[in-house]
Amino acid sequence: MNRQHLRSFVEAYGQAFPGEVVRVAEPVSTDFDVMALVLEYERRRRFPVLLFEQVRGHDLPIVCNVVASRRALAFALGVDESRLALEYARRIKETVKPVVVTDPPFRTRVLTGPALDLARLPIPTYFPGDAGRYLTAGMLVARDPETGVETEGYHRFQLKGRDRLGVSLHSRRRMFEYQRRAEAKGHALPCAIVLGLHPLVSMGSLAYPPPDVGKFDVVGGLFGEPLEVGPCATIDLHVPAAAEIVIEGEVLAGTREPEGPFGEFTGYFSRRSTQHVFVAKAVAMRERPWFQSIGSGRAGDHITTLGLVREAEIWNALNRVIPNVTGVHVPLSGTSSFTAYVALRQSRPGEAKHVIPIVLGVDHYLKLVVVVDDDIDVFDESDVLWAVATRMQADRDLVVIGGSLGAMLDPSADERGVTAKLGIDATRPFDEPFADKLVMDPARMAWARALVERLGG
Ligand SMILES: Cc1cc2nc3c(=O)[nH]c(=O)nc-3n(C[C@H](O)[C@H](O)[C@H](O)COP(=O)(O)O)c2cc1C
Repeated sequence: MNRQHLRSFVEAYGQAFPGEVVRVAEPVSTDFDVMALVLEYERRRRFPVLLFEQVRGHDLPIVCNVVASRRALAFALGVDESRLALEYARRIKETVKPVVVTDPPFRTRVLTGPALDLARLPIPTYFPGDAGRYLTAGMLVARDPETGVETEGYHRFQLKGRDRLGVSLHSRRRMFEYQRRAEAKGHALPCAIVLGLHPLVSMGSLAYPPPDVGKFDVVGGLFGEPLEVGPCATIDLHVPAAAEIVIEGEVLAGTREPEGPFGEFTGYFSRRSTQHVFVAKAVAMRERPWFQSIGSGRAGDHITTLGLVREAEIWNALNRVIPNVTGVHVPLSGTSSFTAYVALRQSRPGEAKHVIPIVLGVDHYLKLVVVVDDDIDVFDESDVLWAVATRMQADRDLVVIGGSLGAMLDPSADERGVTAKLGIDATRPFDEPFADKLVMDPARMAWARALVERLGG
């Protein structure tokens, strides 16, 4: 099986980590069951890929949690977890153009006209309180109406009818701008929603390439080989050839309809939405395809990749101008979107403060940056908070920027998504005497470790 297929990833991952691919043979409902199982595993600090073999009222299986853990993302990239962000940061710069295959498997069945009914897909409802059934793993692909550069990204889609989906483009990145450009010309934006993708395609679709670079080129860099793409059946667009299901259609111009509420990555129901409308023209699929779902809310499946991508972009932005960055973490506690911790070995006065605007400039979602010295483990949040408690003085170490572009879905931002941003310099003063940190002799620590083991752990 082609290595760009979701199924080959799941098979290889399950072989490498038995127990990390869980097959659920018991019949499940599309109402809440998928999300409830994700939450129960997360309560146990587990993030296995879940394959629901029997979904009541539907004949397709659901696969969920494919991109829920750093372990899975590192396996997809073929590196150790500790190298994940740095390796991703390196490969996204080595772009490779996609290659076209003429007869992709998703063209096996193409449903149009009266045969097209999106409700027949096993689309779940995630939380009680969601407005309805939601496609959460739909990667939207479109081309810039002005330059022709393709982009893709995940967007929530509310099932509204046989061929109609509500969609929110609230991240207000390239897709939002492409739709705005098409609408300004009075045109709908032709696009395709792609389901059932290898993790490297998901990871590449969240990258921040320059405006003249398509994200399929970034995905090629991650694979180290061209991404295979195939032509859609009813619109002039190419999508990953290994896709399980492709919904072809357009986002309408000049039409807005209520969409949501939906349980969002912030951990809250979100009523904010750009209220766009997608109308389907065709559903193309492989023989007995896997329907992919991404757990909603703060589930690892929803936010782990977002944190990784931001870490990599921060590494790349800082490395241009700051020589000794030693750690970057965009933690789950900040929904992998709003908070970043950066550690550095200071070499020039004022360097720690210089880090703050660079990180905030990487992405408009980031609104809290904490800069620490290289003796702090940015993956240990209590260590970061200890540095804030003991090295930060509020009258000299805070940087606040008001009235800035932020995330529409941040409930503390205003309705337009305008927010304030905060940088905290929690480093020791550069080149000045500072209290000595408590450190035990490594030889005695080794003795203590061995003794604890002899005592039974
Ligand atoms: C699971 C998942 C769901 C997402 N849902 C949305 C969404 O509903 N609306 C949105 O605008 N962005 C959403 N995002 C973020 C975008 O997919 C992301 O910002 C993407 O890179 C935007 O691509 P673009 O720059 O091509 O517009 C989601 C991301 C993930 C991982």
